Amino acid sequence: MRTQVVIIGSGPSGLLLGQLLAKEGIDTIILEQKSKDYVLGRIRAGVLEEGAVRLIEQAGAAERLHQQGLIHDGTEIAFDSARHRIDFKGLTGKTVTVYGQTEVTRDLMDARASIGAPTVYEALDVSLHAIESDRPIVRFRANGTVQEIECDYVAGCDGFHGVSRRSIPEDRLKAFERVYPFGWLGVLVDKPPASNELIYVNHERGFALCSMRSTTRSRYYLQCRVDENVEDWPDDKFWEELTRRLDPEAVSKLSTGPSIEKSIAPLRSFVAEPMRFGNLFLAGDAAHIVPPTGAKGLNLAASDVAYLSSAIIDWYRRNSRGGLDAYAGRALARVWKAERFSWWMTQILHRFPEESGFDQRIQRAELEYLFSSTAAQTALAENYVGLPY
Ligand code: APR
Ligand code: PHB
Repeated sequence: MRTQVVIIGSGPSGLLLGQLLAKEGIDTIILEQKSKDYVLGRIRAGVLEEGAVRLIEQAGAAERLHQQGLIHDGTEIAFDSARHRIDFKGLTGKTVTVYGQTEVTRDLMDARASIGAPTVYEALDVSLHAIESDRPIVRFRANGTVQEIECDYVAGCDGFHGVSRRSIPEDRLKAFERVYPFGWLGVLVDKPPASNELIYVNHERGFALCSMRSTTRSRYYLQCRVDENVEDWPDDKFWEELTRRLDPEAVSKLSTGPSIEKSIAPLRSFVAEPMRFGNLFLAGDAAHIVPPTGAKGLNLAASDVAYLSSAIIDWYRRNSRGGLDAYAGRALARVWKAERFSWWMTQILHRFPEESGFDQRIQRAELEYLFSSTAAQTALAENYVGLPY
């Protein structure tokens, strides 16, 4: 087989890249290790920056997003039982759209199917060869047979545990990492949200978040220990603990019910540099991870794909290598700013097991400053709605 670009991974990064390239007549094959149903069963965050919405529009997959997505003009931060609003729209002129990542993935898959672009699901043992040459080769096993695709470029969009980043020689890649000493226990429930905006809660028992997927489906999180199991958290215990961390008004509006999904996610900051090796380009979680505080994961995948798609298009349309050579630098400059913001949001909102009295007072000072300063609120807002690209 031969194609122009082999895309490894059918998450939001790979699918979005495939659509943007297809619009310019560039052929791609997506290789995905899991089944379509498995990919569509994963529950992830659901806050889109305007830049991500624009790209999904360009990809021809924004119809349902515009019908069902909820526009949020701000968010709330609860501390000492008081809620403080950060007015995104007033401070930056921008908003965010709440629309689940699973739905984004479904819409992009449908758009890809409608143009007849190929995806191989359950592609096993994907391996990359000759990626420093002009003719990289990707080998995989599907339906029991080993197959090979020759291509011009490989896009590594296969998430944190994928094969792409691991195919780069160790001495050509530098990883930067911070692992946080807690996780998030998330619950999805078919009940209306407790508030019409998200509420990020800093509570002495630990962080909590009230989020949503729609006007009838809510997503709640609790800071938990990394070594806890979901089995230790029956629904009743979850709602009881959440109730303890919320302010009385949120509690009065909280509508509980049987969870339809429950999972624990660890929190990690991670960046691999550079995001390129020969003709392999990394995008999204394959190259970097952010803790979920601030909902930057999918939005960073989108900005990587914006840079990478325009670089690949420039090569095929204008014979220009400039974009490809600049890709890693441009993407990483934005990645690090989102890493900083997600780390900072994590820092100000969680309880750290080893924190000293000094750490606690600094955190309190940081929050009190935020609530009293328009400049500080603007800094939060402009990062939350997304830095330009
Ligand atoms: N071969 C083929 N596919 C693979 C392999 C492999 N060896 N390893 C992983 N994959 C697939 C995964 O099954 C998954 O479907 O690659 C896909 C990667 O998708 P995501 O993990 O969703 O990563 P990405 O598309 O970069 O999206 C980033 O998704 O994970 C969230 O928090 C993240 O919001 C961010 C966004
Ligand atoms: C979510 O809805 O899953 C969500 C929202 C905001 C975050 C993280 C997760 O910061």
